[in-house]
Amino acid sequence: MSTKTDWITQELASLKQQGLYNTIRTIESPQGAWLVVDGKRVLNFCSNNYLGLANHPRLVQAAQDAVKQYGVGPAAVRSIAGTMSLHVELEKRLAAFKGVEAAITFQSGFNANLATIPALVGREDVIYSDRLNHASIIDGCRLSGAKIVAYDHCSPAHLKDTIAAEQGRSTERLYRRALIVTDGVFSMDGDVAPLPEIYAIARDEDILLMVDDAHGEGVLGRGGRGIVDHFGLHGKVDIEVGTLSKAFGVVGGVVAGKQVVVDWLRQRGRPFLFSSAVTAPDAAACLAALDLLEASTELVDRLWDNAKYFKAEMKRLGFDTGVSTTPITPVMLGEAPLAQQFSRALFDAPRDVFAMAIGYPTVPQGKARIRVMISAAHSRDDLDQGLEAFAKVGKELRVI
Ligand SMILES: Cc1ncc(COP(=O)(O)O)c(C=O)c1O
Repeated sequence: MSTKTDWITQELASLKQQGLYNTIRTIESPQGAWLVVDGKRVLNFCSNNYLGLANHPRLVQAAQDAVKQYGVGPAAVRSIAGTMSLHVELEKRLAAFKGVEAAITFQSGFNANLATIPALVGREDVIYSDRLNHASIIDGCRLSGAKIVAYDHCSPAHLKDTIAAEQGRSTERLYRRALIVTDGVFSMDGDVAPLPEIYAIARDEDILLMVDDAHGEGVLGRGGRGIVDHFGLHGKVDIEVGTLSKAFGVVGGVVAGKQVVVDWLRQRGRPFLFSSAVTAPDAAACLAALDLLEASTELVDRLWDNAKYFKAEMKRLGFDTGVSTTPITPVMLGEAPLAQQFSRALFDAPRDVFAMAIGYPTVPQGKARIRVMISAAHSRDDLDQGLEAFAKVGKELRVI
């Protein structure tokens, strides 16, 4: 009998033994403030559905109309078999929304990073990457073959020292090209990259600057235009990566920036060249999301009101919500088993709150937490119910 996969069986058993095996719950309802999870109605504190758009009637209608007009599948990659007019329209509208020359869409934010980084830098180059950057940035960096140098999290001073050390003082340049890449909002802690300071370094050193705004899109800036708008850095950041899978409520990734960068990605972005695009209903729903964002700031305002209220109340209860300055609300608990016990107690009746524990290796050892994702879809009653559940479990487990 073959033993080729025995090692996998052993690895899986080891994960289970350490409490690190990821069991995925099944959702049987549309996204929203409340979900049916594993057969039970629960208050949803897990999704990245920041603006409540994932089941918004306008997006659903747009998707249904697109199915009628275009069917369900793109049938081939865009570069070989032509591109649907909806994708072209979406890219134009995204560029206008972001205030840049051009935009290109991908199947996901993850793919946008895998496409972009290797198209910009290669073996003869260097990447300066924030130590806590998202996995898709890390994988994009690795795929590029460039030398990867991590700088301390959100530290422009360390970035500057790192560049100086790498470039050396020799008159001969060590590298052909360089790229600085950072998350805009860090997804586990909810803190925001010091982009103005990072930009100043990129400008002085003449280095390409790329920001992944997956958690800033639809959240930061005027009407959710993202981190570049938030800091007033229009025209200064070379590459803005975003996702259409979080605040936009659909699925897909986007890169926004100069026309020349977007033209290059259409020629050299491998997930664009060798993988089919999101479907027509996805693109149509994203267009409907843009309509809503451009028409009013109401949803973004409600998201921030909800986040401020929830965070202030959690602090008043005595919880440590870390360094977040965005709607991402980590509830710091320390050890992974405590975080898991907390999450289970929240899920059990009568609390019925769905909030997942996050532990190593997603966050460092000893920094396990429950990550609460606040949404514009939550009513004040929903938030109060969640707060009550946190208070009860927090006292039971002697966290507060
Ligand atoms: C910073 C960052 N980049 C990229 C992604 C991937 O986005 P998508 O789900 O659209 O692939 C995520 C999602 O977790 C993220 O947090």
